[in-house]
Amino acid sequence: MKTLKLTRREFTRHAGLAILSVSGLASLSTIRCSNDDSPTGPGGGQPGSGLVVNLADYPTLGQVGGVQAINYQNTPIYVFRTGDASFRALSRVCTHKGCTVNWVNSGKKLSCPCHGSEFSDKGSVIKGPARSSLQEFTTQY
Ligand code: FES
Repeated sequence: MKTLKLTRREFTRHAGLAILSVSGLASLSTIRCSNDDSPTGPGGGQPGSGLVVNLADYPTLGQVGGVQAINYQNTPIYVFRTGDASFRALSRVCTHKGCTVNWVNSGKKLSCPCHGSEFSDKGSVIKGPARSSLQEFTTQY
């Protein structure tokens, strides 16, 4: 098998590589987007270092406005591309009773199928019975 080695700069230039990393700290969860050459791929990354996502694996995140469902350590999250170099990541776990919320693209909101709670694309409650915002992870590109 033939292999091709690229420097990080070459690889980034050619592949448009962007990496999304989710840290699993209990009290402060962190998502980092970086263009280093950390382990990549859906579900990649080392335990404790968070989820590392190669954005090239998620074409929907290639454009501003893109939304992608990803699982992180058994927690479903949505990642939103909010700008050329900015992202938002929200837990999909409803703060009412823990059902999984779904993105409603036409309404630009998240909706819970269990009891009807709705959340904005920033995670704040639009409609109850949920009273608390969805957990948001810090992002870094
Ligand atoms: Fe989501 Fe009840 S679990 S509204």
